[in-house]
Amino acid sequence: NARIAVIGAGSGYMPGVIRGLLHRADDLAGADLAFYDLDAGHLDVMTRLARNMFAARGADFTVTAHTDLTAALDGADFVFTTFRPGGLAGRHLDESIPLKYGVVGQETVGPGGFLMACRSVPVLLNIARVLEKVAPKAWILNYTNPTNVVTDAVLRNTDARVISLCDQWVGDTETWADLLGLPQAGLEIDWIGTNHGTWAERVRLDGEDVDIAPLLERLEPHGAATPHRDPSRMAELGRALGLLVNSYSKYYFFHDEVVRELTAKGTTRAQDILAMLPAYYEQVAGQADEKDPDPSGERGGGEHGEFAVDVICAIARDEQRRFIVNTPNRGSISSLEDDAIVEVPAIIGRQGAVPLVMGELPRQVRGLTQSIHEYERLAADAAVTGDRRLALRALMAHPFVRGKRTAEKILEEGLAAHRGDLPQF
Ligand code: G6P
Repeated sequence: NARIAVIGAGSGYMPGVIRGLLHRADDLAGADLAFYDLDAGHLDVMTRLARNMFAARGADFTVTAHTDLTAALDGADFVFTTFRPGGLAGRHLDESIPLKYGVVGQETVGPGGFLMACRSVPVLLNIARVLEKVAPKAWILNYTNPTNVVTDAVLRNTDARVISLCDQWVGDTETWADLLGLPQAGLEIDWIGTNHGTWAERVRLDGEDVDIAPLLERLEPHGAATPHRDPSRMAELGRALGLLVNSYSKYYFFHDEVVRELTAKGTTRAQDILAMLPAYYEQVAGQADEKDPDPSGERGGGEHGEFAVDVICAIARDEQRRFIVNTPNRGSISSLEDDAIVEVPAIIGRQGAVPLVMGELPRQVRGLTQSIHEYERLAADAAVTGDRRLALRALMAHPFVRGKRTAEKILEEGLAAHRGDLPQF
């Protein structure tokens, strides 16, 4: 029986994770789920919700709730990490501080992502070190952002086994199917690059290569923008670059426009979420003790939980299934060093993730992707060591940051604002 620890189980994303577990309930029958969170109140709500949702649908899972990390991790086969250190208050700082200096403020990319890395990395390193003692064979399936930087730090500093996940490619694939006029079923896209900086030149439909060049030429941008995905900008970039782009590419190629929009908007994404969360938790809490709870409007959506649970099943059952994940390069992308953490198609089974050979990055995004990688590596080292000189170098290496003075100001203000969450600095 698999033991799965969920770290951050009080998160608003949990209803989606619970549904993800339900969708593979037969394959994971008998599993022990150890829920852990710092927030005992939210943890209690999600634990009761999970027990009742599982019972109503006949899922054979045992759920225990923990506020002690070692107890939660003890004997785990899989550790699913889905927390935000510093919470949404911390995210608000990440999103607002860079913006004051004319730089995109975002929780995963750019200086905001760097500040988040500085909070996430110590927590993940601690989890990895506890696992070395209580569950050395466990697989960490990590959603905690910035997912590449966190993975790089953990893999180069501990013996933990980590596969980092990001479900952005699932929605991006749907958006591209829609933009190109292709069916979603049977569509396979070779997304390659680094997390939130992926591109694709190769697309297959039911196993047959699709020539995307004429489709990109005929693109009719359509589809409403959401906070993290703007189909018309994706279409515009797709046409210009001659390839499919990740939705986060807008931050690189429309940087100044996005800065103006974020500034004019007046609230950060963190503030917008904070404003809706009380009603959301109230709704979930109100249903937690019902016989067949069915919370609506869950954070993250269905693909979030299903993807993570499918990856767990692929390892547990040695399914040798293809997913896009973040893993050491090992020759998959020849334009990046071998131990770079890359987001690429990989085959997942008992051995973990084996990246498929993808070749060179397209020349028009090669330099950019290499810059992002070099930034990420410096960021990982700075987040592990707390070395301020490395931190400055990381920010100066980032494509968003155009000068030393800007890097210094963001760093100084960011590290001061987060000092309670940055033991290493
Ligand atoms: C996307 C990104 C994730 C990010 C999330 C934030 O899914 O791929 O990396 O964590 O958006 O969503 P939120 O609703 O919190 O803004």
